[in-house]
Amino acid sequence: MKITFKKTNLIGQADKMLYGHFLEHFHRQVYDGVFDPESKFADEDGFRTDVLEAMKKVQTPIIRWPGGCYVSAYDWHYGVGKKRIPTYDKAWRVEESNLFGTDEFAKLCKKLDCIPYICTNAGTGTAEDMSNWVEYCNLRNMGIFAKERIENGFEDPHNIKFWSIGNENWGGHEIGSKDAEEWGRLVRESAKMMLRVDPTLELSAASIDDLDWNLNLLRTAGQYLDWISIHSYWDFTPDGVTYIDYDTAMLRTGEDISGVIDRVRAYLTACGLEKKIKIAYDEWNLRGWYHPNLMDIWNREPKRHEDEDFYQNQILAPRNINDNNAIYTMADAVFSAAFLNTCMRNCDIVGMACFSPIVNTRGAIFTHENGIVLRSTYYVFDLYANLLKENVLDIWSEDVPKLCGTDRGTRKTVDAVDIVVTYGEGGYAIAAVNKDPEKAQTIDLSIIEDEVSEYRIHTLNGPSVDSYNDIGRDEVGIKTGEWQNFTGSVCLEAHSVNVIELR
Ligand code: AHR
Repeated sequence: MKITFKKTNLIGQADKMLYGHFLEHFHRQVYDGVFDPESKFADEDGFRTDVLEAMKKVQTPIIRWPGGCYVSAYDWHYGVGKKRIPTYDKAWRVEESNLFGTDEFAKLCKKLDCIPYICTNAGTGTAEDMSNWVEYCNLRNMGIFAKERIENGFEDPHNIKFWSIGNENWGGHEIGSKDAEEWGRLVRESAKMMLRVDPTLELSAASIDDLDWNLNLLRTAGQYLDWISIHSYWDFTPDGVTYIDYDTAMLRTGEDISGVIDRVRAYLTACGLEKKIKIAYDEWNLRGWYHPNLMDIWNREPKRHEDEDFYQNQILAPRNINDNNAIYTMADAVFSAAFLNTCMRNCDIVGMACFSPIVNTRGAIFTHENGIVLRSTYYVFDLYANLLKENVLDIWSEDVPKLCGTDRGTRKTVDAVDIVVTYGEGGYAIAAVNKDPEKAQTIDLSIIEDEVSEYRIHTLNGPSVDSYNDIGRDEVGIKTGEWQNFTGSVCLEAHSVNVIELR
């Protein structure tokens, strides 16, 4: 395989927000995840310092919160103030303590020096609820809600600039789902009220890869939006105990990812908004989350709480399957790198991506009583967020090896090697993914009108495609080679994610 590139031949700038994360009030993401006052790792505000350190190490740029499905029946008001009363979470059918709310989220993002991004309740919520939330966060002292924030001990506004109107309200699974016409009108009216509180907001709205949904949303509310939110999970196993293997995951790294972005770009272009509105891929993960028997739309047979035993053993307990670290292998790391490469190739229109989620469930960081486990996906962010440069170059590829196979009855062919070349201060940094499960691949690098003399390769890998990390098990990690003379080609290990530095 050969690639040719030139440092003045850019696709665009990759926003650091492509390496963003998502945190939802589900299972152990917030409580027992980032926020655990009883933990021996807890700081003075109850945050786990080992989790904070791991999130700082990957330069977490933005966190989306509080949901996800959770938010579509969430009243933010219960989550602020000196007295927090527990409420029933209708999305996930558990009791929410409300001990972690807006002010705690603002504190978390301040500690991480990252952008807070709030998703509002457009399920049962109203335009007034959403704009009141903006008042609470961003007005200095006018009106009821800003004064309440001051009363709660926060004199200065939180200045939360990124807001999303709604979460997946396009789907029957969502509390307060809407049809396309309703959605356009609700987003327009909510956006107007939120922007009258703070005209500097960056506003997104829940969207999907669907023409009708987007034409209604963009024609009715496009003038108020800076982003539209897209979500994808590619291994959507409602049964949760069978997972697609490495080879199948690789077959979903081609059109299964790029096709969504291409079509959403087309909807924006059709409405003349492709220069105004960007795509926020603000939930993505190879693996869908496991939460069975939850008025499960996938089997259309809403299940009742027959009894406490059913609730405990058929609804709550199975969620612990998400904590099985053996699930998260090199398939997850290689897929995630291919996803981020696709976003970088489309960085002119994809400006944000939030890994769903960052802590526990299917996340990159797993917490336990005595520490954390960094799953394979964590190291993709460690490589990409810390080593890649901001300029994404257009590249010419020749003789790209392919992977072929059958996925859900469809014959598929994908590139076996996925390369993105970035350029910036210090030279080139190349994201190079070798998806081949067995074969190493040698890449010839041809640089137009420039010279480099040395290269260094950082390789994320494990002994096999099924390698994973767990408590007391560190199979997957990053090896960094020495600087070597550059001879024009570099070899990529089988099933590996690499960043090659050239100088
Ligand atoms: O499975 C988790 C859910 O996936 C999130 O809450 C929602 O946004 C998406 O459908």
